[in-house]
Amino acid sequence: MLEVEHLAVSYHDVNAVEDVSFAIASGQMVAVIGPNGAGKSTVFKAILGLVPASSGHMRYRSRSLHRQLRTVAYVPQRSQVDWDFPVTVWGAVMMARTRHRNWLGWIKKSGCHCESIVKSALQRVGIWELRDRQIGELSGGQQQRVFLARAIAQEAELLFFDEPFVGVDKKTEAVIFDVFAELKSQSKILLVITHDLGSNLDNYDRLLLMNKELIADGDRDTVITSQNIKRAYGDSVILMQKELT
Ligand SMILES: Nc1ncnc2c1ncn2[C@@H]1O[C@H](COP(=O)(O)OP(=O)(O)O)[C@@H](O)[C@H]1O
Ligand SMILES: [Mg+2]
Repeated sequence: MLEVEHLAVSYHDVNAVEDVSFAIASGQMVAVIGPNGAGKSTVFKAILGLVPASSGHMRYRSRSLHRQLRTVAYVPQRSQVDWDFPVTVWGAVMMARTRHRNWLGWIKKSGCHCESIVKSALQRVGIWELRDRQIGELSGGQQQRVFLARAIAQEAELLFFDEPFVGVDKKTEAVIFDVFAELKSQSKILLVITHDLGSNLDNYDRLLLMNKELIADGDRDTVITSQNIKRAYGDSVILMQKELT
């Protein structure tokens, strides 16, 4: 169980997140939705300790999450990554295994099996043949698959994906949902920020709708009501509501 209690975050004098609480059981895949600037990415970053929370507790298995960050994989928005960083696909995924190596980095601890784990992660997402390419030479979908392979190779228990479907092709989208289902069946916890309010929402066990504060938490029918959508998105969403009904 991942528990987030009374999380609040402000950047200088701007409140980005106010009093957000939720709990997620193992084996659940949860979508986090809400308009641009709603604080979705900030919630992820604060849970992971990447930005300071002004209040709140994050616990995993009843213990402080920040003492167990090795159990967490975080895939940031693709636009937040420096794709000019000189590393190959293989190297980028191997980085996920760093914590399984000793302090010299390049001497493997016994029992690591790093190469075979990285290889099977690359094969799982269908980019094994791209392993020697620089990450900056890849398409959006291929870059997202590198991230996904990295999250798999990390063997994390909690996985946070920030807008993994932005700028990816349909085939990659299918691969991502396929891997998500597999991770779910391994009792992992997945949180996914998404902008897609269409039929893809059926893939999730639960939705968290937020705009600074948590507006609704539950299954699709509970969360996607015109009242909730209006509260989250304001009047700008009239067109979108038509699509939903
Ligand atoms: N590093 C930062 N410094 C100052 N303000 C920020 C920073 N990051 C985000 N914000 C602000 O916090 C709010 C929430 O941003 P964000 O979490 O990125 O929203 P979302 O991911 O839902 O689009 C926005 O108003 C944004 O402008
Ligand atoms: Mg964001």
